[in-house]
Amino acid sequence: MAGAEESVLKQQVVLDTAARLNKTPAQVVFRWNVQRGCSIIPKSTKLARLKENIAIFDFELSDSEMSAISAINQDKRFNDPDDFCQVAFNALHPIYD
Ligand SMILES: NC(=O)c1ccc[n+]([C@@H]2O[C@H](COP(=O)([O-])OP(=O)(O)OC[C@H]3O[C@@H](n4cnc5c(N)ncnc54)[C@H](OP(=O)(O)O)[C@@H]3O)[C@@H](O)[C@H]2O)c1
Repeated sequence: MAGAEESVLKQQVVLDTAARLNKTPAQVVFRWNVQRGCSIIPKSTKLARLKENIAIFDFELSDSEMSAISAINQDKRFNDPDDFCQVAFNALHPIYD
């Protein structure tokens, strides 16, 4: 499992790319996902962030930025389905055994 301090929003390459493009770190990682052909389902309780999160179609990441952000991967997950299933379904669904 990844810790909060490992958030992609805090990675230097994401911060640098966001600064260069005058975008937020969240917009950069959403754009990275969409640009590699993935659908994303960001959720926010804040109107300002809902607007921020959809404003990712007026810029593009370069091939080198795409590669650099992809290289952050450490094969860790933030969402543990084991925890989720116990809360949501009161059932044990271990995923690591
Ligand atoms: N994760 C799953 O396994 C799963 C499975 C099925 C369905 N879903 C659905 O998928 C959607 C997303 O779920 P999730 O688990 O990925 O996320 P989540 O935990 O439901 O919420 C997203 C988090 O990201 C924050 N956030 C949103 N926009 C941000 C931004 N621009 N910058 C920084 N932080 C931002 C939100 O904070 P604020 O609210 O404070 O902005 C919130 O803490 C939900 O509708 C959920 O029901 C998820």
